[in-house]
Amino acid sequence: MATENKTAIVTGSTSGIGRETVKALAKADYHLVLPVRNMEKGKQLKKEIEALYSSQQVRLVECDLESLKSVQNFVEVFRAEYTQLHLLINNAGVWFSKRELTEDGFEKNFAINHLSHFLLTKSLLDIIKKTPKARIINVASEAHKFGQINFNDLQSEKSFSSFKAYGQSKLANILFTRKLSKILEGSGVTVNSLHPGVVNTSLFDKMNGLIKSIFKFFMITPEKGAATSIYLALSDEVANKTGLYFKKCKAISPHKNALNTTDAEKLWEISLELTDLN
Ligand SMILES: NC(=O)c1ccc[n+]([C@@H]2O[C@H](COP(=O)([O-])OP(=O)(O)OC[C@H]3O[C@@H](n4cnc5c(N)ncnc54)[C@H](OP(=O)(O)O)[C@@H]3O)[C@@H](O)[C@H]2O)c1
Repeated sequence: MATENKTAIVTGSTSGIGRETVKALAKADYHLVLPVRNMEKGKQLKKEIEALYSSQQVRLVECDLESLKSVQNFVEVFRAEYTQLHLLINNAGVWFSKRELTEDGFEKNFAINHLSHFLLTKSLLDIIKKTPKARIINVASEAHKFGQINFNDLQSEKSFSSFKAYGQSKLANILFTRKLSKILEGSGVTVNSLHPGVVNTSLFDKMNGLIKSIFKFFMITPEKGAATSIYLALSDEVANKTGLYFKKCKAISPHKNALNTTDAEKLWEISLELTDLN
């Protein structure tokens, strides 16, 4: 696991699973470039990591995943300073219980969990492909099982269900992973998705109290919740595995909706249009 001088981007590093993930990557000597929306939380994290490991190990860049412009700005900053990217972990996620829109007019579960990460990844693909043995990891969820890609109402304009909107966005993470793995075939870059477990984090803060109290019975700590992300990032066992979905550090089959190649293609094309990359 020689990781000297390797560079990683991890979204959602200021809390929960992402926070534990970046601490493990710092320990493994990764240089961390972290898009954060709350710079105060980011500075605190940087201070903690650099006190434990080495100075200059963390580069914070302000980035709000609610805004595609902000994602584009992050990409510009990264491209100006770095020529390689060994690891991209699309970890940030939200679960909104009410329908809310981003400044770009997209439903927030879909926009933050899928579209912004789609844009981030797509905009960095050339750098990633130039980096030997680069890895992309998408933090999805077993919640993809209660989602469908509702192509007739992607933004939940006609009807909104919190479970369906979150589930759709997590299903999108897996479909995106599978389509991207096809695009990256032969490039040496791997891309996998995962379910971290039911983890005691602030993800559930916007849900009603009853749901949170039910989930609490099953919850594991953020340290344990980060285990599969860290495994996919650092283990030699998965160096050549790609296009797969992991749970508890094992590849498992996702729901059949996540294996639908037509939906994966369609979602890719729509995401290109919505993020204006075409
Ligand atoms: N917790 C679970 O049980 C569970 C289960 C399955 C899957 N997951 C997935 O695991 C991933 C991590 O979630 P978590 O449980 O660790 O949740 P969390 O503790 O709420 O952490 C979410 C992270 O995302 C960041 N974030 C949210 N909105 C953002 C925005 N607009 N711009 C930039 N950053 C933003 C947060 O930043 P702030 O610190 O500024 O809030 C935080 O760092 C998510 O993709 C989630 O869907 C979680």
